[in-house]
Parts: sequence; structure tokens; C-alpha cells
Amino acid sequence: MILPIFAYGQPILKKKAKDIDAEFPELNILINNMWETMYLAHGVGLAAPQIGLSIRLFIIDTIQVLDEEKKSEGIKKVFINALIVEETGDFWPYEEGCLSIPNLTGDVDRPQKVRIQYFDENFIKHDEIYEGINARVIQHEYDHIEGILFVEKLKPLKRKLIQRKLADIKAGNITSEYKMKFVRV
Ligand code: NI
Repeated sequence: MILPIFAYGQPILKKKAKDIDAEFPELNILINNMWETMYLAHGVGLAAPQIGLSIRLFIIDTIQVLDEEKKSEGIKKVFINALIVEETGDFWPYEEGCLSIPNLTGDVDRPQKVRIQYFDENFIKHDEIYEGINARVIQHEYDHIEGILFVEKLKPLKRKLIQRKLADIKAGNITSEYKMKFVRV
């Protein structure tokens, strides 16, 4: 089932999300719906707050954006109750976008490596290190469950330049290729 994606301005996107346990109702259905929603919107990641649930769950598929010879370096994973325990390496810029903030991208600086502890969809615990594009998408989605959006991490001048665009998104004065839920309609 395709779920509407909550747009910039929705208060839930600014809330720190809560842990869940293995008894969370219909978790597998929810995860399947999130995959379906993410792929339809051509996203590489999707976090539960973006579909209106303030829980610590996000999904990532970087395989789809990597060139054929690099596909094996990509990941397709579900992250539950994730905790970033360490970020290392030099900060590097990468042009990010977000399904909750359509038609807007910008360079964000983030550390190159990340160590993350999380549970997968079978509630098996993992402790792993990622770098490059995988780390990047993890950091972006992790921010979502912490109530942080990438536009808050843009340089001051760029932030200023996008204020009107953000206001338009908040007001629902945009067209997107997928179903969205705006604060005001
Ligand atoms: Ni996002």
C-alpha cells in the first residue's frame, strides 16, 4: 500500500522518534508499505516520521543508485531503534534531497564514516560501520528519527535562498509526483 509522505512543515518531522519492540503491531506490513512508497517516489531512504509515525525505523536502498560494477557495495536494509555511536573521518559535501522536501537539493557536510547499532526487521541486533554513500544515507535517515531535516544543515546563505521554496512546500503550493500530506491543504 502506498502511504502519503508527510511534507516539510509537518510537526512530526521535528519530533525525536521513539524506540519500538518486536511486538509492534503489523511491523512487516508497515515495512513493506514503506518499501513500496519509497520506490514509487524514487527515494534511496525513507524514515517512519515521513509517513506519520514517530518511531525509530528507517529503510535504505543504495544499491539502486550505484553503477553496475559498484552495486555490491550498496545496502538494502531496515534499521530499527538505531543508534549512531560514532562518526569519524573528514567531513565531505554531498548534494542531498528529501522526499518530504520535493524539488529541493543542497550540499550537506557530514563525516565520512559512521558506526551504528540497530535491530533488523527480525529484531536481530547489529553493530556495523559504514562509509561513503551508505554512511551518507544512514546519516540523513538517522537525522529524521532525531527530528532533524537536511535543510537545517545547509550553509546560511543557501538556507536563506530556499526560504520561499520551503514556505511553498509547507503551504502545499507545489506539485509532487507522489502523494503527500501537507500541513495546510
Ligand atoms: Ni529525508
